[in-house]
Amino acid sequence: MSSSDAPEVFDFRKPQKDSPAPARLTQSVFFVGFMGAGKTSVTRKLARRVGVPSIDMDTFIERAASRKISQIFAEEGEAAFRAMETDVLRTLAAGEPQLVSCGGGIVLAAENREILKTSGFVVYLQVTAAEAASRISNLSSRPLFRDLENAERVIKEREPLYEEVADVSVDTSGRGSSALAEIVGEILKEKGILWQPK
Ligand code: S3P
Repeated sequence: MSSSDAPEVFDFRKPQKDSPAPARLTQSVFFVGFMGAGKTSVTRKLARRVGVPSIDMDTFIERAASRKISQIFAEEGEAAFRAMETDVLRTLAAGEPQLVSCGGGIVLAAENREILKTSGFVVYLQVTAAEAASRISNLSSRPLFRDLENAERVIKEREPLYEEVADVSVDTSGRGSSALAEIVGEILKEKGILWQPK
């Protein structure tokens, strides 16, 4: 086979002419909101789309503890989980800028609210209990969801806390995670938090 017949090998190490440089974040962006608001999928989608790092707090805690959140709740109780959550938040807030998907109860502790307000930009994804229930495929993985009535009550209780930490609130009703990633991406660009090096 002559060298001209050889298949072209794609070299991932070479910067590709037409691929834009990955975007940069000037500060971390924390996604808050009730379970089922789409924090995890919106964070992941936006991070992939623009090429910035992201992390999901619940997944991080599950890996660190080698257990599912529901197991941590059952074996050690909610207070132990909340303490882990604050530790992780403190660590992430002090680290490199990234997109952070927070657990729905992150706003319950005053200490966490203070960290969120002083360590980055906070996006509140608003959701109704009915829409949240329709989005969560496995309700048993969320020990605090229980039923619709309870979810409605908890959302009402937490609303002022989400509002307190939010730099921007986005209504998620009727919107999928791709559309929401697009909306949030535009907001972050407009604010100069997400930018594209030339
Ligand atoms: C919780 C929400 C969950 C998880 C835990 C407690 C809450 O995270 O942290 O089950 O108190 O609302 P998601 O909001 O990612 O489901």
